[in-house]
Order: sequence, then C-alpha cells, then structure tokens
Amino acid sequence: MNAIAPALVSFNQVGKHFAVAGGELEAIRDFNLQIADGEFVAIVGASGCGKSTLLRLLIGLDNDYQGQILIDGQPLNGIGSERGIVFQEHRLFPWLSVAQNIALGLVNEPLNSEQRQQRIDQYIALVGLQDFSQAYPHQLSGGMAQRVAIARGLVASPRILLLDEPFGALDALTRQQMQDELLAIRERARITTLLVTHDVEEALFLADRVVVLEPRPGRIKRIVDIDLAHPRQRASYAFHRLREDLLHELTADERYLPPALEQIRDLPLTYLAY
Ligand SMILES: Nc1ncnc2c1ncn2[C@@H]1O[C@H](COP(=O)(O)OP(=O)(O)OP(=O)(O)O)[C@@H](O)[C@H]1O
Ligand SMILES: [Mg+2]
Repeated sequence: MNAIAPALVSFNQVGKHFAVAGGELEAIRDFNLQIADGEFVAIVGASGCGKSTLLRLLIGLDNDYQGQILIDGQPLNGIGSERGIVFQEHRLFPWLSVAQNIALGLVNEPLNSEQRQQRIDQYIALVGLQDFSQAYPHQLSGGMAQRVAIARGLVASPRILLLDEPFGALDALTRQQMQDELLAIRERARITTLLVTHDVEEALFLADRVVVLEPRPGRIKRIVDIDLAHPRQRASYAFHRLREDLLHELTADERYLPPALEQIRDLPLTYLAY
C-alpha cells in the first residue's frame, strides 16, 4: 500500500446504536479507519461485534449513525453503483434464475443487451456455474447460491467491494479457488476491498491490513499490516507466525468462539443440555 495515497474510504469517529427492547445497544464505538484506493482490508472479530453493521453503513443501507463516512472525501449519500456488496446470506430472489439474479447487479449500468449478456456470461463462468445459468436458487447448493451472490456483487465492476463472509458456505477447496480468483480480479481491476471474515487464515492470505475488532461495543483492538508478497504461502513460517499472533489477539478475548460454536453461544444453557 502506498502510505501517501489519499483515503478512498474514511470512517471518522463512527458510532452506531440500535434501539432494542429495554433500551439501546451500542454496536460500534469510535471506529476510525482510512482505506486507500486499491487497498484490501479485512475485518476479523467475534460474532456480534459489529462487522456486518459496519458494512451496512458503508453500503449506505443505514444512515442513522454518529460520526462521518467519506468516499473520495465526500460524505456518503445512500447506496451507489461504485460500491458492490456480497451479503453474509446470499439474498437471491427465488423467482429469478441464476443469470437473472446476476443481471440485477447491472440495473444501473449503461450497457446494451449484448454487452449485458456478455458480462453476465463472463461472471457466471468466473464462479464456475456455466451449467446452471437457467437454474433457480432452490435448485442450487448453499455454496453455489453464494457464488451467484459473489458474481452479482462483482458484475458491475464496482470500485469498492464489500464482502461479508463471502466464502463461509464453500467447501475448503472451492474457498481457496475463490480466494485466488478474488486476488486475480483485484489485480486486474485495482478494486478496493473490505472483507469481513471469521477465518484468520483467509484474512492473512488476502489482505494488506487486518483490523481486529473487540466486541460490545465494537471497537478497533489492533490493526496489523500484512507485509507478505503475493502469492502468499500458507505453509511459510512468516504466515504461520502472523496467524498465531492474530488468533492470540482474538482468543485473548474470552467472548470469541470458533464459528461452529457461535450459533449456540446465545442460547439458554438448558438448550445445551439436550
Ligand atoms: N437491526 C438491529 N437491531 C438491533 N440490534 C442489532 C441490529 N442489527 C445488529 N444488531 C446488534 O448489533 C450487534 C452487531 O451485529 P452485527 O450483525 O454487526 O455483528 P457481526 O459482527 O456481523 O456478527 P456475525 O459474525 O455473527 O455475523 C449485535 O449485538 C446485534 O445484536
Ligand atoms: Mg455479520
């Protein structure tokens, strides 16, 4: 990353509260982060620490927050096609085919029908779903549906890509292929990326910087520069050390649980007895 490049995205003293039964929940506190043009930043942190909330604010879906979010120095003003998002759940429309769902990412693009079709075909191929372009979401596996959502987020070639656990539902091999593919896309398009992930290794493999969030309220605990050249070697000593370091940072907080256990964390204890 070029240290003197002006920030493309600026979070300045951002805070977020939700009204909940019995009062207010402080989801984000004093969040400050500058993301340079072309930079890849990953956010890791425990379940419920505010990661998706931050992405929702940046995509412009929620304007009720404290502080300031700037893009290219301008205050954020609703959603915009220069920002693409892949949500934590795939959010496909069940009555639209794979190709039609992906086409939704192009609604604001000035393309003729041939260019539009070409672009859709290109992104269907990118996520390896050539044989399923006419299929409907209920005919896909969870991982395939997530790949459609990734194609929809990328198809308009956004300048800023927001990814909320985009590969969480994929098997390990497809996940690694998608990570490689994401790096290749970034290389071609110099896309600025903000990725939320539970997977420390994924963050280390992809990002220029990793932001560790601390929960309740979500605050920045540490920002780690990842100065490893690409392609990164997952088996290397440097990679291993950084992974241990980040895991330590996360598990030092007793409220962090591995993803498989997160679903049960908030259940009453009686549930766990069965
Ligand atoms: N619409 C809402 N109303 C009330 N509280 C909310 C709302 N959305 C999120 N929250 C609360 O804000 C906090 C942060 O939620 P958020 O979804 O951002 O967490 P997260 O870091 O993305 O978690 P996960 O890793 O499980 O996806 C949680 O305590 C959650 O209960
Ligand atoms: Mg989330």
